[in-house]
Parts: sequence; C-alpha cells; structure tokens
Amino acid sequence: MARHLITSALPYINGIKHLGNLAGSMLPADVYARYLRQRGHEVLYICATDEHGTAAELAAKDAGLPVAEFCARLHDTQKAIYDGFSLRFDYFGRTSAQQTVEITQHFARRLLAEGFIEERTVRQVYSVADARFLADRYIVGTCPHCGYEAARGDQCEHCTRVLDPTDLVDARSALSGSRELEVRATKHLFLLQSKLAGEVEAFVDEYGKEWPNLASSIARKWFTEGLHDRAITRDLEWGVPVPADTWPELAAEGKVFYVWFDAPIGYIGATKEWSDAAPAGEHRDWKSWWYDADTTVRHTEFMAKDNVPFHTVMFPATQLGTREPWKKVDYVKAFNWLTYYGGKFSTSQNRGIFTDAALELLPADYWRYFLMAHAPESDDSSFSWELFSSVVNKDLADTLGNFVNRVLTFSRKRFGDLVPSGHAAGEPEHRLGTEIARLLTEYEEHMEALQFRKAAFALRGMWSAGNSYLEEKAPWLEIKTDSEAAALTLRTAMNLIHLYAVVSEPFIPVSARAMREALALPDDTRSWMTTEEATALDAVPAGTAFTVPPVLFAKITEDDLAGYRERFGADDA
Ligand code: 2FM
Ligand code: ZN
Repeated sequence: MARHLITSALPYINGIKHLGNLAGSMLPADVYARYLRQRGHEVLYICATDEHGTAAELAAKDAGLPVAEFCARLHDTQKAIYDGFSLRFDYFGRTSAQQTVEITQHFARRLLAEGFIEERTVRQVYSVADARFLADRYIVGTCPHCGYEAARGDQCEHCTRVLDPTDLVDARSALSGSRELEVRATKHLFLLQSKLAGEVEAFVDEYGKEWPNLASSIARKWFTEGLHDRAITRDLEWGVPVPADTWPELAAEGKVFYVWFDAPIGYIGATKEWSDAAPAGEHRDWKSWWYDADTTVRHTEFMAKDNVPFHTVMFPATQLGTREPWKKVDYVKAFNWLTYYGGKFSTSQNRGIFTDAALELLPADYWRYFLMAHAPESDDSSFSWELFSSVVNKDLADTLGNFVNRVLTFSRKRFGDLVPSGHAAGEPEHRLGTEIARLLTEYEEHMEALQFRKAAFALRGMWSAGNSYLEEKAPWLEIKTDSEAAALTLRTAMNLIHLYAVVSEPFIPVSARAMREALALPDDTRSWMTTEEATALDAVPAGTAFTVPPVLFAKITEDDLAGYRERFGADDA
C-alpha cells in the first residue's frame, strides 16, 4: 500500500476565498484524501495559510491591523470555514510558523553552499511618493504579453506569465497610485535557475509523463522560453528573514525571502508542525514523508493552473539545488477556472460567491457535490445559480435524498422499524447488483485517475440505478398483492442506501454519515465495498433496526433562486 502525501495550493491569507479557489485545490484534495483513506491507504493531507508577501501586507493595511495580528485572525477565520466545508486536513498550518521559517533558511543556506544562490545588485522600481521599493503586487501595470491592464509585478493573472516588475507597461504604485517611479540600485539574492534548467527539464520529462496535459504543458512552456535566474528576496516588513549569519548585510537591510520561495517550503514546514503537535505517546515523523522518503510515498498536489509554474519548475529547482533528497511531486492535478456566469470570480470586484456566504446559504454537501460534479478539469466551467439549483434538485434532492426518504418511510409504515425479510433475491435484484458493481468499478477507476467529474457521474449512476429499480418493482403496488415481494424490494433498497452511505462519503460526507446512522448495523466497520458486496447487496440483513433521517437535501425553490440571483448578481459576465 502506498503512503499518500496530499497537498493543495496554500490559500493566501489576504481574505476569505471564493468558491473558485476551493474548487481547484482544497476540495478535490479532500475528496481524494477521503477516498484513499476509505480504501485503507495511509494518507497525510497537509495544507496551510500562505501568509507572506505583499498581498498580506496590503490586506493588513486595508484592515488597519498589524500584519501579524491580521494573519492570525484570518488564519482562524479561514480554518473555521474549511471545517464548515468538512475539509479533513491532517494539519492546517501557517507559513509564518517557526518550522517554515527555519526550513526556508536551511534551503537558502544549502543552495548557497551548492553554488545556486548569488548576490546581485539590481535596479529596482522605487516609488518616490511611497518612499520605498515596490515589490511584486505593490506595483501594477499592463502585461507586456497579453495586454491585461491590471497585471501585478510578479505575475499576470490573465495569461499566467511570471513577470518582473520592470516588465510592466504604464506601471504605477498599488499603494498610492503614483506613477512617479524611479529605478534605483539595491542588492538581492538570486536563485540560479539557469544552472538547474537541465535538471528541472529532466525532472519534468520523467515525472511529467503521468501528469495531466494541463500541468505538463505549462511546465514545458517555461523551458522553451529558457529558465531565468530569479530574485528570491524582497524589501518587505513581513516574511522569512534572510538569515543574518549567512548574509549579514542583506539581513541588516531587512530583506526577506520572496513569498513564492517560502510558500512551497510551507508544505514541509506544516508537516513538521503536524509532527511537533503530536499528542503525547504518538510519534509522527515528518521526515519520513519529505526527506529521503521511502519509495512508497506518493505526493499528489492539487492546484489551479496559475500555480503550476511554481510547483513544477521553481520549487523543483529549489529542491534539486539543495543536493539533499527532498521528496518531489509525483502527480500534479491542475485545474482550469471556475467562472461565475462565464466571467471571472473576482475578490476585488466582489463578484461571485465567497466561501463564508456559501455556507450561510446551504450546507457544505450541496457545494461539495456541485463543485466536483462540475469541476473545471478539462476546461473552465461556469457556475450559474440556474445550473446549481438544477443539479442540487435533480441529483441530490430527487435522485438520492428522495430515494432514501421514500424507501425508509414506506418500509416503516408497512413493516415497522426493522428491515423486512421477504422473498429471496430474484432476477431484478441480480440485474441491479451487476449494474451497481459495474458502476462501482467505474467510479473507482475514475477516482484512481483523479477524474472527478467522471467519478461523480458514476456515483450519480449508482443513485439512479436505485431509482430505476424502485420504479420497476413499485413496492407500493406489490404490497397490495404480495407483501413478501414488497419486503424484498425494500430490503434491497435499504442495502443500496447502505452502499450509498459508504461510497458517497468522499463527495458528501455529512449526508453519508446521516445515511449510515439511519441503519443501526452492529459492528459495521467497513470503509469500502468490494465488488462482491456490491453485487450481492445483502450486507444489511432482515431484522436490522433503522430510523428515518430528516430530509437529506431540501430543494431550491424558484423563490430561493430569484433571491440568490438578486443578492449575488447574475447577469453581468
Ligand atoms: O495562489 C495562491 O493562492 C498561493 N497562495 C498558492 C501557494 S501554493 C504553495 F506552494 F505554497
Ligand atoms: Zn498577461
């Protein structure tokens, strides 16, 4: 059995994330982690808030708080929201934690020792009005590649190209808006990526064979453009300090590492946080996952496409250059964008749905299911309230929820609080079992391949098969002529509910628990279903006590829909 290390892009601390962020990183990672745990694998799902850089400083300034306090608050706020979405991290850390600080400084010293870091004097943009150097997001302008007008100094969000602040056209300060910018000399550390280019390319050739095209093509684009050396320090107040023992002059000037240098190291740091937080008597070994890890460790990363260059090129270069045996990413699951009515979800323009608002509206399972069934995998996918309500109403309320409720309510009314006995299974039950087993295999194959839309489709197929069976057998008619026949149908349907409880867990964990709890199966520790169990559909024997849970999914009404459209805005794309 493999040991699965799972990480998802670290959410920036600068504010509450919108649903698009969740859909392309933490949520699919959680679905996958839950699935693998259910299949009996050892799983470690690590995430953290990404707390450094200009975005954090700017957001703290807007909030009128010291950066450290702002980050502490936003970390807690974000953590509570992710708990609300049932994201089951093994650890949710912070890149500002001491562990990440120390490991980042260690990486930098090693890179220096191996000749991959160099101190260079650079000419950097200085804002006279703000009396400071402008790093990354402190400077905005037009992207020289695609013409996007609000490109940031470090990356164009629109075409995903990594930029240098001096590349921008019509550059201005994000702090004051001033265009009175000068170029002044200052010293910075550079990561000599050009010297590592061959090795990084070999890494992408070897590991990238397996990655989805979206990830490997973005990585390859970099090699055709040539891998350039990159400044990895900044003039900021908040960040991992350049270690004074190694670079006294830069440390004295208050230089810190560039956020994209320490953020991926944050995965390692957060794993050490997890180790350090072990309860008494439990040994947790962060190094066994990251350092000289055994070959059974498989690292899968989840991220949106704008993150891909950093994880497939810059971070591997950083790791390789240390000449230490750091674990590299085995599989990069990259996502396109989730759009809002075809347009960008935008934090700055307040368009789309934020994660906190989503949870106030409806339970997490509704969002989890929709976002995975419509995951932006092969292309961008568009959120609209119309589509969302139709998916919730059809798949969750009608197909799954109604089945569960109808079966249990009818059985209790006719046969009492125990699973009825009835005839032995016949041809329709064998046919159903074969179909369910086929869909289960399909579901497993898609999950192993991290094809979430297809997996959700197979899952829904299992729910639908239950409905077709029920329509075909019509126990409400059978009961009139042959109550033993009706009992068989209901017993089989209750076995389906049990199967749904087990296999739906990765997508809708809260509803899955409610289904499981409805059936008081003694000692049911099974965490997955074998093909034989799925075919036989007899794990829940006659005589098992059950209860009828409250309605699993409420339908979204026309009035609700109108209200959502009005509140969140639906026509502007
Ligand atoms: O794009 C983002 O939201 C970044 N905060 C992701 C960082 S991922 C990692 F490596 F740290
Ligand atoms: Zn661009």
